[in-house]
Amino acid sequence: MPDSGAPVARGTTIEQRAVTRVGVIGMGRWGRELIRVFARAAEVVVCSNRGDSASIRWLAEAHPGTRHTTDVEAVFANPEIQAVVIATPIATHPELAVAALQSGKHVFVEKPLATSVEGCDSVIDAADRARRQLFVGHTFLYDAGLEHLHDRTRTDPINEMELVWHKFGTFEEPLVWNLLTHEVAITLWLVGSPSGAHIEEARPSQTSLDRLRVTLTFPGDRRISIEIDRTDKSREKTVMATTASGARYRWSQGVLDRLGADTAWRTVHVASTEALAREAQAFLASIVTGKRPLSDGSFGRLVTCVVAEVERRCAPGADQLPSTMRGS
Ligand SMILES: NC(=O)c1ccc[n+]([C@@H]2O[C@H](COP(=O)([O-])OP(=O)(O)OC[C@H]3O[C@@H](n4cnc5c(N)ncnc54)[C@H](OP(=O)(O)O)[C@@H]3O)[C@@H](O)[C@H]2O)c1
Repeated sequence: MPDSGAPVARGTTIEQRAVTRVGVIGMGRWGRELIRVFARAAEVVVCSNRGDSASIRWLAEAHPGTRHTTDVEAVFANPEIQAVVIATPIATHPELAVAALQSGKHVFVEKPLATSVEGCDSVIDAADRARRQLFVGHTFLYDAGLEHLHDRTRTDPINEMELVWHKFGTFEEPLVWNLLTHEVAITLWLVGSPSGAHIEEARPSQTSLDRLRVTLTFPGDRRISIEIDRTDKSREKTVMATTASGARYRWSQGVLDRLGADTAWRTVHVASTEALAREAQAFLASIVTGKRPLSDGSFGRLVTCVVAEVERRCAPGADQLPSTMRGS
């Protein structure tokens, strides 16, 4: 890596437009969101997909100055760009990220970095060899409300936390790799590395796993519960946290509330900038400053270790397996 110093402050505001030109691979539902935020903070020179014509039309209308190609090699070989943003299906992440790093580009790759520790290591090694930044798109680490919770709980640590996510859809990718990665990233950042995982409920619906309840255990009898249901048409995404001193916090969509002594919730922080825009800025800032981002390759690897362990434990009769949580 260019520098192994402290992580770059999130939300850093620097003048990136003049310095960073990017290429984006993947122009699907999420890739378009990334193109939108990177087009504001940098220059999006070229975007790539496999040829879906609706996406190509969207790009021509929304970003007429951005070129299109179906040839990813042409993106890697483009001397105009310093960075590549990858928003393709999960299975393609490690190979595309390694290829981009080997062509000398800094890389923003969507979460998860890979679905195996070996896959993560191949990308981390490529970044180290190329001396380029590797940034994994764990968006919630750049949510200003959660950042506020992180800062408040540095000296008053979280003892218990409940993460609930109900949404309908996104059945194309496995629930654990698509959705659980977010909840695990939030947990690792706010609480630390778990020592064990217990599956409370793992239910199929449209796929083999569409509702999951898991308890992560930590040294000192601390417990985190995660509930994800992608069959529920009600929309809810919340984090409830209780600290060692008994303070209670509630987060949802950038807003952080605290429970008062009178048992009324009071808002203590409202995000003024969307997490995705702050995430794009953090990636661009890491390129300019050479400092490791918060969601670097090692963080992405840790998320993969925990999610892989939960996936293993979802298999029938797997509860007696020894833990491989740390991926060593
Ligand atoms: N951080 C977050 O909050 C968040 C939220 C949602 C999704 N994501 C991540 O974003 C990624 C993309 O999700 P999505 O919902 O946008 O998927 P999607 O709608 O299926 O789009 C995938 C895109 O990748 C292209 N593509 C597929 N295979 C490719 C390959 N082998 N080489 C190059 N391009 C390829 C597709 O091109 P064609 O359309 O031409 O086939 C399409 O443009 C996933 O990794 C997901 O985990 C992150």
